[in-house]
Amino acid sequence: MVYYSEATHYSVQKNISLLNMQSIVIRTNDKGEMDYEDLKETLQLHRHQPAIILANIGTTMTEAKDDIAQIQAILKRYAIKNAYLHCDAALAGTYLSLLGESQFDFSHGCDSIAISGHKFIGSPIPCGVILVKKHYRDRVGRSIPYIGTFDTTISGSRNAITPLFIWYAIQKYGKNGLLKRAQQSLENADYLTKELNKMSIGAWRNEHAITVVLPRPSQKICNKWSLATDGDIAHVICMPGVTRMMLENFVADMKKKCALLKHMRSKHPDFTG
Ligand SMILES: Cc1ncc(COP(=O)(O)O)c(C=O)c1O
Repeated sequence: MVYYSEATHYSVQKNISLLNMQSIVIRTNDKGEMDYEDLKETLQLHRHQPAIILANIGTTMTEAKDDIAQIQAILKRYAIKNAYLHCDAALAGTYLSLLGESQFDFSHGCDSIAISGHKFIGSPIPCGVILVKKHYRDRVGRSIPYIGTFDTTISGSRNAITPLFIWYAIQKYGKNGLLKRAQQSLENADYLTKELNKMSIGAWRNEHAITVVLPRPSQKICNKWSLATDGDIAHVICMPGVTRMMLENFVADMKKKCALLKHMRSKHPDFTG
């Protein structure tokens, strides 16, 4: 049985369907973090079944992090020995570890971690890294004499360029350079949140998140800035490539929109736009 929160990336459900596995969606709180009470109640009902828990280390929309310690405590409470914990750290995995905030690694009891190479690292071609405990890798890996190595892939042949892109970024920036990029992104996220709040826009972000969540702006602004939206929220991810000047221009657009709305409301009290 796979357990994952409702804020999980759509690719997870797709893979569960492909693998024909059973799964249960766990509720999240307002910030996008797993509701541990719901996980507790659900696991209690299924404690006879081996569990795979997918924890988000930075959800797609709000960059919420599920708490591995709480998940481990629940597994322990119900004596679920046959459990596997995967961390989807697609965006945040890279920089949380640099910030010393990686409460989701193997020492915290997780069995595998995935990160994307085309997000924080910035590979121009989609790619990723999955880290798995060696004994799991050895379970699926097979020695293939004519390729002279262990095959641990699903598809067989794989892209040789994308690992080079990741390697290149690590060589180019080094640990300190990547940390600096992370700190700059966090500063930019803080700047944007505060600027929007000054306009009475309820922008917020999760702890150590470079993602700023805001009420969905007008369609015109969403289109102009290619904002990702989900229901009544939108987000701005302050990736290292997002400069302060871009954010200032975005803030200026939002200011103009706010001024226009204020004007319309003063002229037409019934205006709800
Ligand atoms: C939390 C999370 N997991 C997975 C993905 C998908 O990763 P990829 O683009 O490497 O398939 C994303 C992408 O937005 C994501 O935010």
